[in-house]
Amino acid sequence: MSEKILYSYTGIFDTPDEVTHAAEEAVKQGYTKYDVNTPYPLHGMNKAMNLPPSKLGYVALIFGLSGALGGLLSLWWVSAIDYPLVIGGKPFFSFPAYIPVIFEVTVLSAAIATVLAMLFFFFKLPNNAHPLHATDYMKKVSVDKYGIVIQADDPKFDEASVRKFLERVHAKEINAVYWVEEEITHKHKIFEPKFLTFLLVVVIITSGTTYFSLNKLMFMLPFNWMMEQQKQNPQQKSLVFADGFGMRKPVEGTIARGFLPYEFQGQPDLAGEKLINPIPISKESLQLGQTKYDIYCSPCHGYQGEGDSRLRGQFPNPPSLHSEKVRTWSDGRIFAVLTDGQNIMPSYSTQLTVDERWTVINYVRALQRALNAKESDLQ
Ligand code: HEC
Repeated sequence: MSEKILYSYTGIFDTPDEVTHAAEEAVKQGYTKYDVNTPYPLHGMNKAMNLPPSKLGYVALIFGLSGALGGLLSLWWVSAIDYPLVIGGKPFFSFPAYIPVIFEVTVLSAAIATVLAMLFFFFKLPNNAHPLHATDYMKKVSVDKYGIVIQADDPKFDEASVRKFLERVHAKEINAVYWVEEEITHKHKIFEPKFLTFLLVVVIITSGTTYFSLNKLMFMLPFNWMMEQQKQNPQQKSLVFADGFGMRKPVEGTIARGFLPYEFQGQPDLAGEKLINPIPISKESLQLGQTKYDIYCSPCHGYQGEGDSRLRGQFPNPPSLHSEKVRTWSDGRIFAVLTDGQNIMPSYSTQLTVDERWTVINYVRALQRALNAKESDLQ
């Protein structure tokens, strides 16, 4: 066992006033390495002990300022250098907009740095041994007594005079505290493998429990009842039908509700003979026809149907819709082109309903008449 050496003398008092007086006397006596322990903070004790202001303030100041500077620099870099965006016509470096962020970063860095500096620099965490720990003295001053400690390494320390001093200030109990040699030369333990392993284990346990409880224990399926319904979607595999197709072909000889099949597929001339335009010419139908024509036909045929395509040669230019041929075609014959397509011109039966096709034809007629006006049209 290593030798015990004297750490300090302790004196215990019953009232705050007595300990405050003792502290004042200790200052007068010229002791510098002494401390006062009380169950709760005593007003006026800082003054009585003649303590300088805490150095933590400087830590807070330095880290607060670096936080402010860091916040400002990163905002400036992000919004003026790396990713400049015009927001409401403001300059890229727009200081007023940065103030809230800078304020937050300042407070955050100052607060975190202060706590960490206090714990690890001033308190030397994870070192937590102190000669006063587990002494009778500490038990009393953390309940209802007030105590003063005068350390043996004080330059003015001398056993007899310290004892006399404590008696003079009317200490109720006077004790010597000893400690073990090893603890004097304690090094900072923050990089000790034991401590680091402990940290690692804490990290693993916390993250593991969090992961387990959030992702396994408390995991709930997303509410996807609306999306995942028990029904057959287009292109989906069917378990009901032997061939596995979800989309069924209509039964032979039947037609869908509200749908009349086109009878003249591949027979444009017959269509021209038999089909009659059911849409009367009116302002509304012509307007609808123009809208649909401008959307679906004009890219190739041009706004006036003259074959002046806007596709710059990406698709062969169509012939003019004002040719003798098309002008003398019946509406039904043009309907056949729109429905079936013609050579390289595709069918428009999926983009345009039957009625819309007829209104487009009415509009084409209006275009034809506009370009080939007769004397009577002008009257
Ligand atoms: C992708 C370009 C393109 C679009 C869009 C297009 N057409 Fe055509 N159209 C053509 C081409 C090319 C021809 C000539 C086809 C051929 O070689 O017989 C043609 C031919 C025609 C003809 C026959 C002309 C003739 O002289 O034989 C008519 C009528 C016609 N289109 C009307 C329309 C209408 C109405 C629309 C809008 C619903 C339309 N086209 C949309 C490219 C297009």
